[in-house]
Amino acid sequence: MASLEELAQQPDPGGRDDGGGSQRLMDPEKLYDLWENQHWRSQEIDFSQDKDDWSRFTEDQKDHLIWVLGSNYIGEERVSTQFAGLLTAYADHQEEAFLATQQVDESRHMVFFDRFYNEVIGMEGDDTAARIANAREVMNDSFVKLFDEELGEANRRLLDNPSDMEAKVDFVTVYHMVIEGTLALTAQKFSVDYLEEHELMPGFVEGFENVGRDEHRHVAYGTWFLQQTAGQDESLASRMQNKLQELLPVAQGVLVPTGQDPEDFEILGYSSQEINEFAFSSLSRRLKAIGVPLQPGENGGERDADEADS
Ligand SMILES: [Fe+2]
Ligand SMILES: [Fe+2]
Repeated sequence: MASLEELAQQPDPGGRDDGGGSQRLMDPEKLYDLWENQHWRSQEIDFSQDKDDWSRFTEDQKDHLIWVLGSNYIGEERVSTQFAGLLTAYADHQEEAFLATQQVDESRHMVFFDRFYNEVIGMEGDDTAARIANAREVMNDSFVKLFDEELGEANRRLLDNPSDMEAKVDFVTVYHMVIEGTLALTAQKFSVDYLEEHELMPGFVEGFENVGRDEHRHVAYGTWFLQQTAGQDESLASRMQNKLQELLPVAQGVLVPTGQDPEDFEILGYSSQEINEFAFSSLSRRLKAIGVPLQPGENGGERDADEADS
């Protein structure tokens, strides 16, 4: 078994550059151990330099950053309040312990973003709910479809019937594969790259990197769960494929800034092609580890024999 130090070095299978097939997947027990080893405190992040940097941005730069970071702020509120269904659907105590850590993480992420929006951006609103309502004004229809309708419905179905395995596979596909694995980690990577390259807002970068490390742990759980379920059962695999086919175009729409061409847009100087390629190659590596290709009949999703018993 890998030591905690070794585990702490392992990102989720979508974050690896080795094709994703050479390491065994971490199970909930190992992911729980990793969580105990990767604590951070959102209240301790120092935003003083960030406030100076923000005050020097042009109005255009501010609007652009508010749009880019807004989907993460509101997204964290959505995923922290729409997680309870999965918490009730645990199969054993190891999974229950890990899922409880994810609930805490998502709330910590929401608190971190709310602090940033309140203290650095100066978003109008006396409390979190009022600030979130104001930040929501720039979200597009794809965001509403994915985070309000699809995620809300997946959560309700699990709350209604926690032992419904199809509902659990749907939930993890929407939440861990599409929202976290495809969208959140992509937005995190390009935002942090941009801010680091321009030496801007170091407090936010530190916090967002911590958020990203938590998200890799969450997505690692989702990859493990889908490998154990959809990876072993044809009807669950086809359910997962259908859900991905339905929601990936919606997820792609979430990233398109208002007024820009959905086929050819730019965020913080990165092209839509660059962004979509990163998101899709990360998803492909996870699907390979799960053992379910994006399209029925593709070979790319077949799992290596040596990782089948992770
Ligand atoms: Fe999160
Ligand atoms: Fe997460």
